[in-house]
Amino acid sequence: MATESTKQSQAVKAEPKVTVPGIMAAKGKRKLTMLTAYDYCTAVWVDRAGVDMILVGDSLAMVMLGHEDTLSVTMDEMLHHTRAVVRGAKRALVIGDMPFLSYQVSVAQAVENAGRFLKEGRAQAVKLEGGASVLKQVEAIVEAGIPVQGHLGLTPQSIAILGGFKVQGKDEEAAKKLVEDAVALAQAGCFSLVLEAIPAAVAQRITEAVPIPTIGIGAGPACDGQVLVLHDLVGLFDRFVPRFVKQYDQLGQRLLEAVSRYRQEVESGTFPGPEHTFGMPAK
Ligand code: KIV
Repeated sequence: MATESTKQSQAVKAEPKVTVPGIMAAKGKRKLTMLTAYDYCTAVWVDRAGVDMILVGDSLAMVMLGHEDTLSVTMDEMLHHTRAVVRGAKRALVIGDMPFLSYQVSVAQAVENAGRFLKEGRAQAVKLEGGASVLKQVEAIVEAGIPVQGHLGLTPQSIAILGGFKVQGKDEEAAKKLVEDAVALAQAGCFSLVLEAIPAAVAQRITEAVPIPTIGIGAGPACDGQVLVLHDLVGLFDRFVPRFVKQYDQLGQRLLEAVSRYRQEVESGTFPGPEHTFGMPAK
């Protein structure tokens, strides 16, 4: 007989794959959820939790590879992680994040690299950062049949120009430019838009101005959905914790406790116990 929990997992398995038209149709009807994942195992758990979109973010440069910022991660590294996430995500839409200098150099380079995320990574969409400067790239990628998610506000690939991880769009002129960029990205064919580290009132203006869902991170509650870096949400990454992060757990601390207990039990001889040990027939 099926227990409550097997019935629940069967129900999750039977759910259809999230699609780009499904994400677009959700605007104004229900809030969307997106989280990062960078490997098979976490993708399985995030997918089981019913999150709509999994972003294989270039933030993996920092949280998985230990770099200072997102600039050093390569296309090959992004594709390696994307393939692993796709194997784990049965329901969520998987979006590959185009790394620094994989789309800025030329439109042809942008289409080719976006195509690699679908062809080699098996992602269902790509994300790229920027406004007016990347409109030609967005149009060409969408024209090639590849869904694009835009990203405005704090765009970490431009920290050299922005002067660090700072809140954007704080004066009227900057806010107006963000709204214009958002409208232009929607017209260029983006299916959704990440808004990072901007005042809530500006995110609300953008959300009202565009027909596509806005997904906020540090952009307040008016956005059509929210995204966080998984390692921030579960308390695994503690080099710095941005104000917009809510830590729902302290998995880093719990991991430390579990590994310390393991070390102590091995050192004291209590692990492995008889229940973890294989015997032999007496003869
Ligand atoms: O790389 C990333 O994780 C991102 C999110 C913060 C949106 O771009």
